[in-house]
Amino acid sequence: MNKVRLGLIGVGTVGRGVFDVLNRNREEICRRTGYEIVVSAATARDLKKARGFLGPTIKLHEDPLDVVRDENVDIVIELVGGVTTARSVIEASIALAKPVVTANKALIAEHGNELFALAKISGSIVAFEAAVAGGIPIIKSLREGLTANRIQSVAGILNGTTNFILSEMRARGLSFQDALSDAQRLGYAESDPTFDIEGIDAGQKLAIIAALSFGIPIQAERVYCEGITQLTEGDIRAAEDFGYRVKLLAITKRRANGFEMRVHPTLVPHDCVIASVDGAMNAVLVRGDAVGETLYYGAGAGAEPTASAVIADLVDVIRLQGVAACAQVPYFAFQTDRLSDVPILDMGEVECSCYLRVRVRDESGVLANIAGILAEQGVSIEVMRQRESNGSHAGVDIVIFTHKTNERSINHALKKIDALDSVVEKPVRLRIETF
Ligand code: HSE
Repeated sequence: MNKVRLGLIGVGTVGRGVFDVLNRNREEICRRTGYEIVVSAATARDLKKARGFLGPTIKLHEDPLDVVRDENVDIVIELVGGVTTARSVIEASIALAKPVVTANKALIAEHGNELFALAKISGSIVAFEAAVAGGIPIIKSLREGLTANRIQSVAGILNGTTNFILSEMRARGLSFQDALSDAQRLGYAESDPTFDIEGIDAGQKLAIIAALSFGIPIQAERVYCEGITQLTEGDIRAAEDFGYRVKLLAITKRRANGFEMRVHPTLVPHDCVIASVDGAMNAVLVRGDAVGETLYYGAGAGAEPTASAVIADLVDVIRLQGVAACAQVPYFAFQTDRLSDVPILDMGEVECSCYLRVRVRDESGVLANIAGILAEQGVSIEVMRQRESNGSHAGVDIVIFTHKTNERSINHALKKIDALDSVVEKPVRLRIETF
């Protein structure tokens, strides 16, 4: 039996998951590939711990680049995270024409365009299924399963930490801070949760998804990112009263003049499937012109779900040995010389229905003033309702649902509403998506 020898760079949660799943499913994976897969070299931040976990036979290196250079390594598995060491590892693998499998979404989002170009020249492969939505095979689905389609939109819950927080806020009436503390205590959120709660993690994944959906370069810097830190349990409850749930959605859409790419808290009708995705789970809804709507659901993080994606890439890479580059599935799902330069739209050009909440002093003429400003900006009101104060604050809340409206118009209107004497707090705006 021929062997494939791996160099494992990073023996943390995911690295251990990969090692465990490879061992547990050795026979099954061998029947699929025709090869025995062995980890022959590795590196980790704590080599002593890694030795204890990996056993006595695997060669351990201090320098990750020595794993790449090790002549007993055929394929590199990069699981260190961050963009500095990881980038050097991937560039070194490419230079030596060794295929590399990575779970590193930040690296692919920021440097994927250059890395794929380099890999194409050297005849190497950079595989990254695990970089987006953990165990859900969304990269493979977009690149292969849906390849007949003109993709129209993708909307995803791509961050488990924030989905857990939002689920807790809704189910238990917790504040954002309390739900975040729970997420940290249970190990979902990191001690510095900024990337997750500010929507940056979801934005990086979205940039990769958009590139593969539309055949455009990865443009992470063009994603509009708004996190969940300003969200109150009161708004979650108000949304619920009107038949909506709040999710942090990552959305990309094809429009006549460009593509939308945005991450923000979003009201979705409570009876649509994505509304019922709770806890730390991920889901991705893809609409193609031929297939219609397809939904992918699963664990977006965790040792073995991520290992599932890493090993799927590994199996693909093994199967691709000896296959000419022109016969391989292209990185962006589209031929690299046929990428589109259709622009990413500015947020001001996005169109959405909105939920607005304006806290006002309860006095005559307030509603008329607010309605007047919205009318001036061409924003049409679908529902407007006054919610009585529960006594915990001065004033009353006016909740407004608008018809679909241009982001620029609503921004102008909100600025003017905020400046009204009778408005006592910065107005809240949440965008709505119906599927
Ligand atoms: N921190 C991410 C999440 C997982 O909460 O979904 C890794 O991207």
